[in-house]
Amino acid sequence: MKYAAITGWGKCMPPAVLSNADLATFLDTSDEWITTRTGIKERRISHVPMTVLSHIAAARALACAGLDPKELDLIILGTCSADEQVPNTASGVQFMLGAHHAAAMDLNTACTSFLYGLSTATAMVRTGVVRNALVIGVEVISPYMDWSNRNVAVLFGDGAAAVVIEASDEPAGVIAEKLGCAAEARHTLRVRGMGTIYGNNEVQLGDTRWDFDGPEIFKRAVQGMTEATLAALERAGLTTDDVALVVPHQANLRIIEAVAKRLGLTMESVYLTVQRYGNMSSATVPVALVEALEEGRVRPGSLLITPAFGAGLTWCAHVIRWGKRVTPIGQSELQLPECDKTGLELVQEIMRRKGRTSKGFDVSLPTR
Ligand code: UT7
Repeated sequence: MKYAAITGWGKCMPPAVLSNADLATFLDTSDEWITTRTGIKERRISHVPMTVLSHIAAARALACAGLDPKELDLIILGTCSADEQVPNTASGVQFMLGAHHAAAMDLNTACTSFLYGLSTATAMVRTGVVRNALVIGVEVISPYMDWSNRNVAVLFGDGAAAVVIEASDEPAGVIAEKLGCAAEARHTLRVRGMGTIYGNNEVQLGDTRWDFDGPEIFKRAVQGMTEATLAALERAGLTTDDVALVVPHQANLRIIEAVAKRLGLTMESVYLTVQRYGNMSSATVPVALVEALEEGRVRPGSLLITPAFGAGLTWCAHVIRWGKRVTPIGQSELQLPECDKTGLELVQEIMRRKGRTSKGFDVSLPTR
């Protein structure tokens, strides 16, 4: 059977920064609490829709792989905060890229969506259903955030990244994974207001209430990420001694430290972005992967693991053998439109919009 090597990677981070001090201007919180409990110092707030972030991350990943969008067979876009339910966001990315021959699907397993998508795409490439695929992890959570709830508002941020995978004879790409879902605990992380059951219930679009049992999610995250990693490594016939770099989901620095400790790995072998970006849900692992590559932390042939968890409660871990190339073939010229607002101003705008009973349906997206 063929392998499915990762041949391209690219990210697109919104430039507007929301710091802990910014949050403390409208929430009863502090930089000290957020830093000591989570490790997070700042996060990004997007000034553009998710389709735009995804398009740029995707174009950068394709240029990195040296792959023409017209040659692309499949786009999987992992997210739980889609621009619209219908049509899906992946089709918007297909349109903007001009990837006219690509199938396009959205996939939602919350924070693990990119990784579930990576498994799906890898299986389809390895079995010959498609020759290549683009897998995107993207989240624009800020419009759905309950900015009055300090339990959740301090944790999340927006961002996007993508990888290209291609059929290869070289033993590279995902070589083993373990996926699961602790559905008996799905009530511990629930965003009320995002979905059709609220549509006929006079809930204003974007108005949310988060059910969020932080300590219970914390406990299950540590357990799920650790057990998934050990199971995936066993499937690959490997041990933690073989791991060169851990690129974990980054919801909380203390969760990552607990997982590393249980696996007997030092924090030197873990790539961290949580301080700068917070929890970007599905975008977290791919953004960290791209930055680890940019910083030379991934070497030819390196063995990576990517333990993660999210609402559902889904959990997973992938064992990835990197190929020979760790540098991009090409670069995309695409850039985000300029942002003339600070992160705090963007959040204040969202809060103002939610206060109104506006129609809110007249949005402009690249749909035709
Ligand atoms: O990708 C999946 C997303 N889910 C997660 O990442 C959740 C995982 N869980 C966590 O990361 C942690 O449980 C939290 C960071 C959410 C909370 O940390 P904790 O150490 O478990 O704190 P806690 O929930 O036990 O709360 C401790 C106190 C409470 O006050 P009282 O009841 O002890 O007086 C909270 O009200 O901290 C209070 N608190 C805050 N204080 C200041 C909660 N949020 C804040 C805040 N600022 N932002």
